[in-house]
Amino acid sequence: MLGKEGSLDMEYRTGWSPKSLLRRICLLHVSFALVLLALAAGCSKPGSTSAGASTPVAAAGGGAGDVSAQIARGQKLYGQYCAGCHGNAGQGSGGAPAVVGKSALPLDPPSSAKARQVKFRTALDVGKWVMKYMPAKKPGTLAADEYLAILAFDLKANGVALSAPLTVQAAGKIVLHP
Ligand code: HEC
Repeated sequence: MLGKEGSLDMEYRTGWSPKSLLRRICLLHVSFALVLLALAAGCSKPGSTSAGASTPVAAAGGGAGDVSAQIARGQKLYGQYCAGCHGNAGQGSGGAPAVVGKSALPLDPPSSAKARQVKFRTALDVGKWVMKYMPAKKPGTLAADEYLAILAFDLKANGVALSAPLTVQAAGKIVLHP
């Protein structure tokens, strides 16, 4: 349904650099499952796609300082790529549901949902869906570690405490709806 291949290809031909090419290969040319595998295997190790954002300590699952850096980064990225539709405080607007607050991230898709057909049982369910469908008009255009940072920020905003930087594995263990 979100047939944006054409426009992405355009971008791909006109605006590529080795770095963005690598990123697009990671994000577009393999299935989502492979992106996750690649992430686990270090294809998108924190720091490999964005200069200086993370340290090796964070990659190894470091401490509280690293998680606050990840959340701060996620907050910035949220403002850049998500707030336009979901609101500065994540309250939602128009057709974009709230992503922060009591009614945010419900187990079942909201009645207004068109794209979402999956349950959000764990934080990883949210992350997987978001990577595939968000930002709504340019799905899949952020790097995996950027999506993770945004997810970390959104979890924090919803009262989920993180003691270490969010990883795919950790997200799978965060149960939002038992
Ligand atoms: C152009 C507007 C727009 C932008 C930008 C956008 N979204 Fe969305 N978002 C939507 C719409 C519309 C939906 C409802 C999709 C559907 O039909 O299920 C949605 C749904 C969601 C949902 C599922 C909510 C639920 O309860 O079902 C999440 C989570 C989400 N967006 C996160 C994000 C994140 C994170 C970003 C930034 C990377 C982002 N969105 C950027 C419009 C947008």
